[in-house]
Amino acid sequence: MEITIKKADTLKKHPEDSALGFGTFFTDHMFNMDYNPEEGWHNPRIEPYGPLEMDPSTMVLHYGQAIFEGLKAYKTESGEIQLFRPKDNLKRLNTSGHMLCMPELDEEFILEALLKLLNIERDWVPAESGTSLYIRPTIIATDPYIGLRSSHTYRFFIILSPVGAYYPEGFDPVKIWVTTDYVRAVRGGVGQAKTAGNYAASLYATELANKDGYTQVMWLDGVELKYVEEVGSMNIFFLIGDELITPELNRSILSGVTRNSVIKLAKSWGVTVVERKISIDEVYAAHSSGELKEVFGSGTAAVISPVGNIKYNGKEITIGDGSVGSFAAKLFNDLMDIQYGKTEDSYNWIVPVPSV
Ligand code: COI
Repeated sequence: MEITIKKADTLKKHPEDSALGFGTFFTDHMFNMDYNPEEGWHNPRIEPYGPLEMDPSTMVLHYGQAIFEGLKAYKTESGEIQLFRPKDNLKRLNTSGHMLCMPELDEEFILEALLKLLNIERDWVPAESGTSLYIRPTIIATDPYIGLRSSHTYRFFIILSPVGAYYPEGFDPVKIWVTTDYVRAVRGGVGQAKTAGNYAASLYATELANKDGYTQVMWLDGVELKYVEEVGSMNIFFLIGDELITPELNRSILSGVTRNSVIKLAKSWGVTVVERKISIDEVYAAHSSGELKEVFGSGTAAVISPVGNIKYNGKEITIGDGSVGSFAAKLFNDLMDIQYGKTEDSYNWIVPVPSV
C-alpha cells in the first residue's frame, strides 16, 4: 500500500524541553488509516495533526471498543533518532485487537508507516536527558451504530507527543495505595489487553488514593483480593532478599515491554528473577523481616519508578529509607543508556529511524 503524505501548511512552535511534562503537546502530523470489510485496511496517509470528525453514535464513544499502545523514540548524543522495541509494541497491539474483536494490522507495514511519520517529525524528538517522543498508536471502532456488537469499521491512527517525566515526582519514589475495594481486571476479563476500559476502570480508586496523598493504586487480583497485579499504569517488581519477584502474567496483567526488558537486564547481571504470584501479605511480611529491599514499577511512560511507601489496610510501610534504591537506579540508568544509544544494544531492541 502506498502511504500518501499531506504536509501541514503551518508548523507549531516547539515547547522547551524543560517544559514538557507528559502528554500535553502534539506534533504537526499524524498517521491515519481506515478499515472496512470490503477493502480491509486502506487509505494509509500522513496528514496534519487535527481533530477526528465523528458521528455522536460512533461505537467507540458508547462501548469503548478501543485499543492503544505506548512506545518511545529517543534522540542520541549524535542526533540520530531511534525506537525502543517497536516490534514488541506492535505485536501487543494485535494481541489487544484480537481480544477486542478488531481486524489484524500488518505489523511490518505499520512499522514502515511509523518510520515515515517519525522521519517527517524528527525535529520534534526532544534532546534533553529524560525526554523522548512518546508514540501513541490507537484503533477505535467507527460504525455509527448504538446496538451492542463489535464494529465493522475502524480507524487506526498514530499521534506523537514530546514528553518528559510521567510522574511529577520524576525519578523520586512514588507513594502507593493498595485498594481492597476496587479491582482493575477480573479473571476471564480483558486485563491483559491495552484497552481504554481498563484505564477508565482505574480512575475512581486512583482519585481516592490521590485524596489520601498517594500517587498510584496497587491493584490486587480480582478473585481473592490477595495477590499483587499491577500498580497504576505500570508493572511492579519487589526485590526480596536476593530475588527479584514480579507477578506472573496471568491474563489479567498487561505484558509490559519494559517489564520484559527489566527481567532480561536483571538476569544478565546474574540476578534470580521469579515470575510468580506474590500476595500483599507476603510483601508486608518481607518488610517486617527486613528482607524487602526495593519496590519499583516499570512502564513505557514511567520507565522505572521507585516506590517509597505503600499503604494497605491503613498501615503504611516505608521501603528502605524511602529514597531511590540502588537496584532501581542501576536498571533505570542501564535502560536509558540503551534507549539513548549510549551503550551497545546487545538485545537487538533498537530500531533506528533512517533519514530519507
Ligand atoms: C504507557 O506506559 O505507555 C501507558 O500507556 C500508560 C499510560 C497511562 C500513559
